[in-house]
Amino acid sequence: MPASSTTLSKAELGEQLAQLAQTQGVTQQTLADALGIHRSTISKVFKGQVQKLTHYESIAKQLGTSTQKLSKQLKFEATPQLKGSSNSQASVITVAIQKGGSGKTTTVVNLAALWAREGLKVLVIDLDMQGHCALHLGEQADGAALMNAIRTRSKVDPIKTEFGVDLLAGGAALRSLTPHLLSSISPLTEVKRLVKLYRDDYDLILIDTAPSLETSTCNAIVAADFLLIPVQTETGALEGLATLYEVYEMLSEDHGPIQILASVPTLHDARTVLHDQMLQTLQQHTHLRPTDIVIKRSIPVAEAFTMRQPVSEYAPDSSAAESFEDLCHELTQRLLAHGALQTADTTMTQALQEVAQ
Ligand SMILES: Nc1ncnc2c1ncn2[C@@H]1O[C@H](COP(=O)(O)OP(=O)(O)OP(=O)(O)O)[C@@H](O)[C@H]1O
Ligand SMILES: [Mg+2]
Repeated sequence: MPASSTTLSKAELGEQLAQLAQTQGVTQQTLADALGIHRSTISKVFKGQVQKLTHYESIAKQLGTSTQKLSKQLKFEATPQLKGSSNSQASVITVAIQKGGSGKTTTVVNLAALWAREGLKVLVIDLDMQGHCALHLGEQADGAALMNAIRTRSKVDPIKTEFGVDLLAGGAALRSLTPHLLSSISPLTEVKRLVKLYRDDYDLILIDTAPSLETSTCNAIVAADFLLIPVQTETGALEGLATLYEVYEMLSEDHGPIQILASVPTLHDARTVLHDQMLQTLQQHTHLRPTDIVIKRSIPVAEAFTMRQPVSEYAPDSSAAESFEDLCHELTQRLLAHGALQTADTTMTQALQEVAQ
């Protein structure tokens, strides 16, 4: 996996710029003339021998890019190709926390889009009657197909979204989900049954849940290999977490194993002392496996939802998009370590698994 930092060394940056100039057929002299600097400076920049970053920036701009974009590009090129687990069955990640507006849907949609971009086959199942996953992924749905699939215990075709993610959408029809589950012979395992029908078709299945700990969310946890918990760094978040953890432990004992993949600090406002204190407390709860990456409250993330796109599409150069990319990489490392994903580079996969043991 690539380093989480996007900063390239001067030598790497120079090499990237030299390659780009060559591809575009732009000579050192042309660049020197356009920028009003000596040709030998261009040559030194290409070798990474110039200390001042402004020269790298202006050459990048002249070549229609930026040093930040080049860093990102290299970061993704450095990612060894990801593959599903060795048993060709999708790993299932349920994203849950009972507190409303914690960033569950945002986390599901943005991660799903990034994993799909990395070449994985990804299915999102939205168990929330608000149907926000469909909205966020630019689709319209009422949840009827998903409700029908659960009711009849049969497969329906997911929606193919324009972001490479397949979707079993939630929506108003899921109003009858809880009554249906409660009246079924196995009230906690109906979603697990459904998920089983799709495991062969995907590398990753992400389940979004409603803001509650009722039966549908318990079903989603029982169906999961991994639990992912977005935690808004606010007062009261930890009490909610304690209850969720109790429920998780009980369900994992009876239906597991289910691993905690991570808790992700979300909607963080570093300017608020309270948020920082909450973040520090969360980071001490190692059993919840808090991520290093903190998702800050930011305008592009909120706007991306309104514009019905993942933030990586809506504002690819924003630091919000970069945070989700970094989160995706951190979680990918963990999934590799669990054997839930593999890379073409088997040595790396093995090394990560050894570290995890
Ligand atoms: N990092 C962020 N910065 C700014 N706005 C955000 C961020 N994360 C989420 N939001 C916004 O906050 C609102 C709640 O987020 P989201 O819908 O992901 O939470 P949720 O936990 O799924 O909510 P619910 O419990 O209602 O399903 C949305 O309007 C979303 O666009
Ligand atoms: Mg939601």
